[in-house]
Amino acid sequence: MLDSMIDYQQRIDQRPVWQPAPDPARAHFSSPLPQTGTPLGVLHRRFVETILPYAVGNAHPGFMGWVHGGGTPVGMVAEMLAAGLNANLGGRNQIPLEVERQVIRWMRQLFGFPRGTGGVLTSGTSSATIVALHTARQARTDRRHLVAYASEQAHGCIARALEVIGVGAAALRRIAVDDRFQIDTAALQRQIAADRKAGETPWLLVGTAGTVNSGAIDNLATLAKIAQRERMWLHIDGALGAPAMLSPHIAPRLAGIEQADSLAMDFHKWMQVPYDAGMALIRDETLQRSAFAATDSYLQREESGLAANSPWPCDYGIDLSRGFRALKVWFTIQAFGGKRLGRVIDHCCLLAQQLVAMIEQHERLELAAPVSLNIVCFRLCRADDATQRAIVRHIQRSGMAAPSLAYLHGRAAIRAAIVNHRTTEIHIRRLLEATDHAIHHCAKGASA
Ligand SMILES: Cc1ncc(COP(=O)(O)O)c(C=O)c1O
Repeated sequence: MLDSMIDYQQRIDQRPVWQPAPDPARAHFSSPLPQTGTPLGVLHRRFVETILPYAVGNAHPGFMGWVHGGGTPVGMVAEMLAAGLNANLGGRNQIPLEVERQVIRWMRQLFGFPRGTGGVLTSGTSSATIVALHTARQARTDRRHLVAYASEQAHGCIARALEVIGVGAAALRRIAVDDRFQIDTAALQRQIAADRKAGETPWLLVGTAGTVNSGAIDNLATLAKIAQRERMWLHIDGALGAPAMLSPHIAPRLAGIEQADSLAMDFHKWMQVPYDAGMALIRDETLQRSAFAATDSYLQREESGLAANSPWPCDYGIDLSRGFRALKVWFTIQAFGGKRLGRVIDHCCLLAQQLVAMIEQHERLELAAPVSLNIVCFRLCRADDATQRAIVRHIQRSGMAAPSLAYLHGRAAIRAAIVNHRTTEIHIRRLLEATDHAIHHCAKGASA
């Protein structure tokens, strides 16, 4: 199985990026609970025949949809070791906790957070955001009329976290963006002033380091100033862009991130760690612990023995039992080193610029948003939303490339997010070739 997965990764470029699953493959998954065992070899064959070919395909260099990382064989074998050990990282006196603590410490140093910063690894940024926002809310003694602010380009996980923690998504003010899709800080300040006047309590300010639609980076330093002046909690959504701190070229554009009260980010996107792995970093560890500390009597800590080594990760987040996802992050960072991971990020941005140049030279395509990182949004000129959507579906079905859609100022655009270390200029050219075929097919009015 190990050999066959290494082969799969090595030869992935010879496969279609994605293909729809035929009915016979789906039919395997409607059988009832088996009462007797099946030999492992048979199960592996079933995996190879009915699961592997019909996954999303984000390990493929031609995959450019949504924001999906590509993973690496290093992360894959680390995942195997973690599963073999079967460590439960909720807590207790064990070295695997030191691995997670080290990962958190590395990230604290990378982002310039102070000693006394808390953190916890999570399944992704959505859950890290819940951890951060719950801490932010518990940190307030006055919890009435709390209002939160984020740009209209902020990810949906912000509103969802507000719902989950009980503040409610209605408390979120969605601030307009400028022509670079960054939060309009003048409009933000006007809204804060209006809310104060109306008796509301401005509480949370969310900045995004790499928006999901176009990769825009909010002006984090200005947001930090506003948050400080208004005594608001500054949270940064760095799901996509925070790892760009590893690139000396991009890091200056993230200035201000070091002043955040909390940061949510993913390892499973641009840091190439296999799914799933995210992190919440909280500037004041004591606030995070008082929001989450596990108090059940059976979890009481001791000075020695297995119940020592407190505080535990379960004191910093939602989960009690949790897997050893820190190991694949730790392996990835050590096997490649920060510089090499940073070069992957630069490489993705360079490819994005090459794609921009190709679109600018293309007679029938136009850019739909400025390109600030690794996301390129473009359109077929003078075509409606239905046609842009049909083009995306057609490219996906071609198996040559897999972009997705974005809506910018209410209009559909073809969106390519270059996140995978395996992607090269060949795949950028292939995307354009597939786009040309799709235009030929779809622009006649046919809705594929
Ligand atoms: C900017 C941004 N924030 C949050 C998320 C959610 O992250 P996750 O999918 O890890 O929960 C994403 C996912 O694409 C994102 O791009």
